[in-house]
Amino acid sequence: MADEITLTYEHEGAFSAESGSTILEASLKNGISHMHVCGGNARCSTCRVMVLDGMDNLEPQTDEEKKLARKKNFEEGIRLACQARIRGDARIRRLVMDDTDAEIAVSTSGPGGHEERLAILFSDIRDFTPFAERQLPYDIIHILNRYFKQMGSAIIDNGGHIDKYIGDGIMALFGLNGEPDAEKCRNAARAALEMVRGLHDVNEYVEKHFGEKFRIGIGLHFGRVVVGEVGHPKHREFTALGDGVNTASRIESTTKKANASILASEEFVTNACDTIKVGRVFLARLKGKAERKKLYELSACNENQLDGVMIIRRYLKGKMPLTITPKILRLAFHEAMTRGEFSKALSDEEAMEQLLADEDNEGLAPAISFINEVADGVARHELPTISPSELIYLSGAVAVELTGGPYIPIELPIEKKSVVEPSIQSPGIPREMEGFPALLIRFRRAGLDRKEMVALTGAHTLGKAHGRQFTENPYRFDNEYFRRLLRDDMSLSLAMLASDREFLKDEKTRQLVELYAGDEEFFFNDFRNAYLKMIRMA
Ligand code: FES
Repeated sequence: MADEITLTYEHEGAFSAESGSTILEASLKNGISHMHVCGGNARCSTCRVMVLDGMDNLEPQTDEEKKLARKKNFEEGIRLACQARIRGDARIRRLVMDDTDAEIAVSTSGPGGHEERLAILFSDIRDFTPFAERQLPYDIIHILNRYFKQMGSAIIDNGGHIDKYIGDGIMALFGLNGEPDAEKCRNAARAALEMVRGLHDVNEYVEKHFGEKFRIGIGLHFGRVVVGEVGHPKHREFTALGDGVNTASRIESTTKKANASILASEEFVTNACDTIKVGRVFLARLKGKAERKKLYELSACNENQLDGVMIIRRYLKGKMPLTITPKILRLAFHEAMTRGEFSKALSDEEAMEQLLADEDNEGLAPAISFINEVADGVARHELPTISPSELIYLSGAVAVELTGGPYIPIELPIEKKSVVEPSIQSPGIPREMEGFPALLIRFRRAGLDRKEMVALTGAHTLGKAHGRQFTENPYRFDNEYFRRLLRDDMSLSLAMLASDREFLKDEKTRQLVELYAGDEEFFFNDFRNAYLKMIRMA
């Protein structure tokens, strides 16, 4: 007789199930009308569930499940009930509850909705409506198609995706192929500049045949948006939704008043790093927003900024599995806090063995293997030169980016700004039970202040301690750890370091925790700056 285990369905109740049965079998046995449109053959995804607890008690994905999960771009924690066999207690949530849900799930051919950090472009022809009123319908369609051909080529040639045409307007997305954030913005900026240049060709034609000229406005923004297929099951379209899209559209509306062809938000300019050049700066109140927003007039692209470091970044992104990202980021911190002990030991097997035997460095061996592998690849493929220490820091930055965190613009060689005497003891790795004053002293020895200490601690959003992850998704970089800290959430299933809870006892650090918990963009900016300072001071 197989062991009995408990399977809890959120909002539905707890049921007993046989160890080794699939979740779907357990559901049906317990009289739960669990959707399974393809009959349990891993082809429809209507049986999918979110595993809230006990993921370790599920057998690994079958090949069939992996295939469908890849196709549908399942997030971490989503399993097919018809494939997942249970070996111990688990808590799940069913995601497809009725026939309408099932129809939607089956008719979605591509990935489901998910968040992406994208560059968004909106363009519009100024005063097109009065122009159209003076023309014949055939001429309007003809000239619009001529215009869209020219503008569309500028977008497509620069890696953009034309999301939709809105009358004479265009909405385009950049970054759907997982490029670094700076590249997403650089591509969007280059497309915008080419659109303005291409307008001259369109205008030669418009002037010759209609005696008029078009002027266009382009708005650029960078931010998180939700992308996915939306619409009636028989007519779906891929699109992006969210505040980021509205902001880009409103920036475009501001171009006329500012008498500028291309305006970009501060978020766009920050994430573009040095890949673009800007001119005039405006403060504008966008429709529906209470606060005035800083907007920059785009003047040019810096074409050389993608060389060197970007090539290695791309290589790292192609090589780094998501599951190793927390260890890589931790290695970057240990490299900085030990003033380069790890990079020095990379070529000395005995020294590395000793380092890894230290309990502070427990679990870092896979990250070291990864760095060694990448260093070999960099040499083999004759990629630009990078020192072992820089490779560790750049890998840490890529780990943050890959998990959805901020883009950290590392330039090579890293310009060191250490004001600390080399003879002074290195800061060392923060201890779990360390009190607040000792922690602060340790970070000060690393050249970092209180704010930078708190911002960097936000990295605990990734990974695990003592086998327990810090947040529900250990491979997503966000401000969830601060939110947990603030709630003083001591869930037994999640880890929380005593040293981090110390932040709540100090008025100033508590305020920082509150700030980061409430504003993710703020946290991302401070984390980016603190990380850059940490590696320059190390
Ligand atoms: S029932 Fe169709 S995928 Fe599980």
